Amino acid sequence: MSVWTERIGRLGSIAAMSNRTILVAVAWPYASGSRHLGHLAGAYLPADIYARFQRSAGNRVLMVSGSDVHGTPITVRADEEGVTPQEIVDRYHGEFVDHWEKLGFSWDLFTSTGTENHHSVTQDMFVRLHENGFIDKRTTTQMYDPDVERYLPDRYVEGTCPHCDYHDARGDQCDNCGRTLDPVDLIDPRSKLSGATPEQRETEHFFLKLSEFSDRLREWLNSREGWRKHVLNFSLGWLDEGLHDRAITRDIDWGVEVPVEGLGPGKRIYVWFDAVIGYLSASKEWAKLSGDPDAWRAWWENPEAEGVYFIGKDNVPFHTIIWPSMLMGYGGLNLPTDVPANNFVTFRGTQASASRGVGITIGEALKSYEPDALRYAVAAILPENADVDLSEDELARRINEELVATWGNLVNRVVAMTHRYFDGTVPEAGEMDVEDNELLDAVDAALDAAAGHFDAVRLRQALTTAMAAAQEANTYLSSREPWKTAKTDEVRTGTTLFVALQAIAGVNTALAPYLPFTSDIVRSMLGVTDAAWGRPLVAAGTALGEAVPLFQKVE
Ligand code: MF3
Ligand code: ZN
Repeated sequence: MSVWTERIGRLGSIAAMSNRTILVAVAWPYASGSRHLGHLAGAYLPADIYARFQRSAGNRVLMVSGSDVHGTPITVRADEEGVTPQEIVDRYHGEFVDHWEKLGFSWDLFTSTGTENHHSVTQDMFVRLHENGFIDKRTTTQMYDPDVERYLPDRYVEGTCPHCDYHDARGDQCDNCGRTLDPVDLIDPRSKLSGATPEQRETEHFFLKLSEFSDRLREWLNSREGWRKHVLNFSLGWLDEGLHDRAITRDIDWGVEVPVEGLGPGKRIYVWFDAVIGYLSASKEWAKLSGDPDAWRAWWENPEAEGVYFIGKDNVPFHTIIWPSMLMGYGGLNLPTDVPANNFVTFRGTQASASRGVGITIGEALKSYEPDALRYAVAAILPENADVDLSEDELARRINEELVATWGNLVNRVVAMTHRYFDGTVPEAGEMDVEDNELLDAVDAALDAAAGHFDAVRLRQALTTAMAAAQEANTYLSSREPWKTAKTDEVRTGTTLFVALQAIAGVNTALAPYLPFTSDIVRSMLGVTDAAWGRPLVAAGTALGEAVPLFQKVE
């Protein structure tokens, strides 16, 4: 018995990882259409996994996001359907909230950029940057559609990318090479409204003086440690090309109102200027809702606090260049600590796209898979270092051959055998031998290694590490054969099941960030209440719950 009390409660390296204050900032999905598994894998799922780990490790996490309800993705959709932008926003915001709940996402707040709070925080940022001299008004040349007599927002102009010759580049960004664009850069531009060739006309807009931040940004980016190579290289490449001041107002009537005089009607703040401010406005909204309106400051003003931004790679420059510049210009607010942007998920070689209808939507996937099974399969293929191709076959294979075979069956067998041979009561451990100790050492080592991987946002590796420990437990059972020793050696059988139950409790901790629903079931099956990071004791004498199957095989 004494061996046991010594082993349990071992903290390993986790002690050094606790008591931190971490903002988990998650990309704001455009409420312009259903989101697909590429979005899930790109930002939302990794953020939830990371946040769940950090909470279990004893850190103060604030995880916020919301629907991005402004900009032309919404108005283009509304125009296509002949409805108001608000109808589009309400429909998709409702869908997101429903899906997040089904997926078990642990948001502290999932709000929207349509709130009064967000509008006023955005305007405050605009006014302060203006006062600090980082925003000024300029006359610009703007695309104008002579057929419908309107100035055209970026996304309403399409044409050929000047960098890569991609034919369907949008005025704001090229989907092929990822560069952000100005509509006037496009070769052979055409209006999305009428197909006409737009004219260039003069009009006034406010500009963010991005170029003034070049040196500070370079110094800051060069001092980043542990960032993903593709994120750092892309960002530094952007700086090397030279930063251009950017228009932050648009000719559009859907968006946050410009808080200073002088532009005249028909102009609003550009969606990308307001959307990134969402991280801050949502933190403030969360604080108000929590009853302590100043509570957001711990994540934004304390220089010790960390901010980890979960986004897809197409959003990198907005989070490593533009948002940091806005924060520097505002003053007194923390810059991102890390921006672990994910690459793309492709479906049969084609980049998933909500607007082009390529890929499996989250709603479709939730109809075919149980939430934890879906979370598992997507986590197993997260595009952390390169684009990843995904198919339904791959999802099914991950679920059947890994989740069910290696983990679900393990839990089920051990709990069922404890019911069969010991009436469902955790047996006392007898004499422990090398093999028993080796299994538990392996589980403890896996917990330590996984903690390091989680903290560094290597979520695929953390999962592989946890599953390898589950596999060790399977190997242990095959070697110990408790179903045979049950007929001859009750003490040995009891020790084997006791050890296997401890191993399962440890592996369950490592898998819990991926499997929030079933890890709760496993804990209650084992009579464990402690959800903190570590290997909790499954005490001898505990009455186990029924052995319910955790997952169904698919197809
Ligand atoms: N709405 C954008 C997209 O879906 C992401 C915005 S992220 C934030 O690509 F920075 F604005 F928050
Ligand atoms: Zn291009």
